[in-house]
Amino acid sequence: MTNAESVPELGWTNVDPEMSARPQQFYPMMRDMGVVEAEEMMLITRHEDVVWALRHPDLFSSGSDAIDIGNIRPLIPLQIDPPDHVKFRRLLDPLFAPREMEKLEADVRALVVELIDEFAEAGECEFNGAVAIPLPCTVFLRLLGLPLADLDLFLRFKDEIIRPVAATPAEGRAMARKTGAEIYAYFETVIAERRRKPQDDMLSGFLSAEIDGEVLTTEDIMDIAYLFLLAGLDTVTASLGCAVAYLAAHPERQQALRDEPSLIPAAIEELLRWETPVPGVVRVATQDVEVAGSMIPAGATVTCLLASANTDGAEFADPESVDFARAANRHLAFGAGVHRCLGSHLARLEMRVALEELHARVPQYEVEAGKTPIYTMGIRGVEYLPLVWSVS
Ligand code: HEM
Repeated sequence: MTNAESVPELGWTNVDPEMSARPQQFYPMMRDMGVVEAEEMMLITRHEDVVWALRHPDLFSSGSDAIDIGNIRPLIPLQIDPPDHVKFRRLLDPLFAPREMEKLEADVRALVVELIDEFAEAGECEFNGAVAIPLPCTVFLRLLGLPLADLDLFLRFKDEIIRPVAATPAEGRAMARKTGAEIYAYFETVIAERRRKPQDDMLSGFLSAEIDGEVLTTEDIMDIAYLFLLAGLDTVTASLGCAVAYLAAHPERQQALRDEPSLIPAAIEELLRWETPVPGVVRVATQDVEVAGSMIPAGATVTCLLASANTDGAEFADPESVDFARAANRHLAFGAGVHRCLGSHLARLEMRVALEELHARVPQYEVEAGKTPIYTMGIRGVEYLPLVWSVS
């Protein structure tokens, strides 16, 4: 039993467009409740509590009971709890460190320019399909050394798992399992090829990587690659879509970035805070634990609601105002604690370069008259973002 309050008329499925366009309006009510009981899970909503929970992986496990995304083994490192978790992060962190990401900048920029030049003269584009989707997927394929011809295959893989088109949750899970099997088979084949003929790419690098004196197994490498595919594509697509949709609706903020590109990194952090494209991360309580006066029972599925934490006035001054000059911005868009995002520097690089080149190449843009951007729930993205601008 808990003393958490129930959410009135608020579900996470079949939500209306108004709610998915502006979920921020519901968070004050949820923070007032502290811990909220909703559809088979409990939501931790305040910044302080979310940080506390994520820093206590002994109380809130991220093991494979927390989420099922078509995988048959724990995803590495997301579904590995301490103490083993750190061994994988020690191996992976240097590969995604800022210094390594800097080396990708020229390539990422060339790709962004190529994508934008396709439509800059046309005076219109559907931004999601034109940039936000292909950019992270192409960067991912290059990083792992996979053929660019597999772009559509990878997009299908991640879409079928993240947003399966299914009549029931059970059907959705079955579909994810089927697609998951395809992902394992794909990577198993590629890893076998790399064992025969190593190349200068991340997958080949994993073949000789050691943890505690033991090399990674094929399963380990598949479990890492599977997670990268699901963690690194949709999140960047969603974050970039949300950022550009916001800027399209706020011409003066857009112009400020065009006039002064050095504002872009801080603007990205503030838009990540405001939009929080990964709204929540899931854990399982390992024992009875009290949070914000509510008892969360052992075994309960818990969502740490990053999006609500990110608009908590106890942490952020004037939290409803999107302030590109916000002084301290301890946002949780990349999570917190041991599982904090491995790819945050890559994500920031992709977003920064995309916003720099977009604003250098495209004049004042706005959403096409009569059209409305369509926001998604789950991962908060903009699946339809028709933009127009004047061409001379
Ligand atoms: C703006 C884009 C991104 C956002 C908003 C984002 C958000 C997050 C969040 C909230 C978590 C924490 C999950 C949890 O605690 O359960 C996470 C973890 C993770 N992210 Fe990202 N992510 C982004 C981009 C990327 C990219 C580009 C990669 C590329 C590899 C990536 C790889 C990962 C991995 C591997 C983890 C698991 C880390 C661990 O368990 O130790 N992410 N991300």
